[in-house]
Amino acid sequence: MSGPARLVPAAAALLALALTGTACDAGVRGTPGGSGVHDPYFPKAGNGGYDVTHYALTLDYTPDTRRLTGRAVITARATQDLTAFDLDLEGLDVASVTVGGKDARWNRAGQELTVRPHDDLREGRTFTAAVRYSGTPRTLTDPDGSKEGWLPTADGALGLGEPVGSTAWFPGNHHPSDKATYDITVTVPEGLQAVSNGELTGRTGKGGRTTYSWHAAEPMASYLATVAVGHYDIGRGTGPHGLPVLNAVDPRQAKASKDVLAKIPEILGWEERTFGPYPFSSAGVIVDRPGDAEYALETQTRPVFPGAPDTGTLVHELAHQWYGDSVTPMSWQDMWLNEGFATYAEWLYQEDHGGKSAQQTFTDLYDGDDDAVWDFPPARPAGAAHISDTPVYERGAMVLQKIRQKVGDGAFRDLLRGWAAAHRHGTADTAQFTAFVEKRAPGKDFGGIWRDWLYGDGRPDRP
Ligand code: TRP
Ligand code: ZN
Repeated sequence: MSGPARLVPAAAALLALALTGTACDAGVRGTPGGSGVHDPYFPKAGNGGYDVTHYALTLDYTPDTRRLTGRAVITARATQDLTAFDLDLEGLDVASVTVGGKDARWNRAGQELTVRPHDDLREGRTFTAAVRYSGTPRTLTDPDGSKEGWLPTADGALGLGEPVGSTAWFPGNHHPSDKATYDITVTVPEGLQAVSNGELTGRTGKGGRTTYSWHAAEPMASYLATVAVGHYDIGRGTGPHGLPVLNAVDPRQAKASKDVLAKIPEILGWEERTFGPYPFSSAGVIVDRPGDAEYALETQTRPVFPGAPDTGTLVHELAHQWYGDSVTPMSWQDMWLNEGFATYAEWLYQEDHGGKSAQQTFTDLYDGDDDAVWDFPPARPAGAAHISDTPVYERGAMVLQKIRQKVGDGAFRDLLRGWAAAHRHGTADTAQFTAFVEKRAPGKDFGGIWRDWLYGDGRPDRP
């Protein structure tokens, strides 16, 4: 046979290979997992085709050079036959990727790191992907202009992830719908500390560097992962039922923070009575300096504050441990399930502590002159730049007050606790919430509340 004629089947075989991926796992005819999970506000966030169960992150960071070296070992289960899958990673240089211990091919486009394993992955199979990477992690600017990702601070750095900032410091499935447990190990120059989520399980020194190991035992959305590197006063205490509390406070914020942080056990106790059992194995806060971040964030077990918080903000971020961290929004459209509830927690805490009633707060907002409350319905934010705007917080909380008006105080408190219990350590969306309320309060008509307060444009009419 002549040369050119023999090339035709070879070319066809090559083409088949390209279409089906590597043909090593005989019989598997998988497809790539896809570069997003169709989030209505962040379409590239997260990836299709697999579910992460665990992240083991081993990080090394030097504030002076701003250099991060990382190894991420991701344990995941294929949810379809896969020839390739994506991880989200913004910036940084990838040195190697292995899947199941074998070198994998990979390429990058924007925030998508596409991994083509040596062997195709069968649906249902659990696999580990290990990524080695390094570089100077980026500070990202949100659609609303705020800063997230990796934030260098006066004496270290802060990793913040809402909504997509975790892509700046580790590769993963960065969407709230895929929660996983974490082990985060951070090595920093001796004399500095590294604080993260969950429990400190180890601290060792070697060659002028100190390694801190943190274990987050309960499922966590990647936007709630954090690392804080710097000088901190570490305060240990206990909350309700002996719950371990670990606070890391920038020494310059220590004096201003002392009194408010002393309220943590009382606040957690009130929140347990109001929302049900605290969902995690430990608690605490990270207090950095004002300007290190521009906002507080409910990072799991250990929210971050830019300076000493006031009581309301502390109540808010701790309430997120139930609403947001344990019960996590299915997509960024469901943000009001976080912020409406955490805002309502502030209202209710005030009411239960001799202050203004939640009904009065509602009335003041309704009659007030802040028109931003009516910019858009809480369950339909006006765009990615608006997921943390006033309607999501205040009008979201107003939806809860409308429900309370309808069902009465006792039944309303049952709903708060019941919602946290029904989706503990899981994810939920707005349709599940409205169905839950209707099921728990049979015979009551919530149609008008959903139509006017949750989904409707403009200021609802006075009832
Ligand atoms: N979730 C934070 C809070 O209210 C606020 C916040 C910080 C936020 N960064 C964000 C909200 C990014 C939406 C998107 O406690
Ligand atoms: Zn909040």
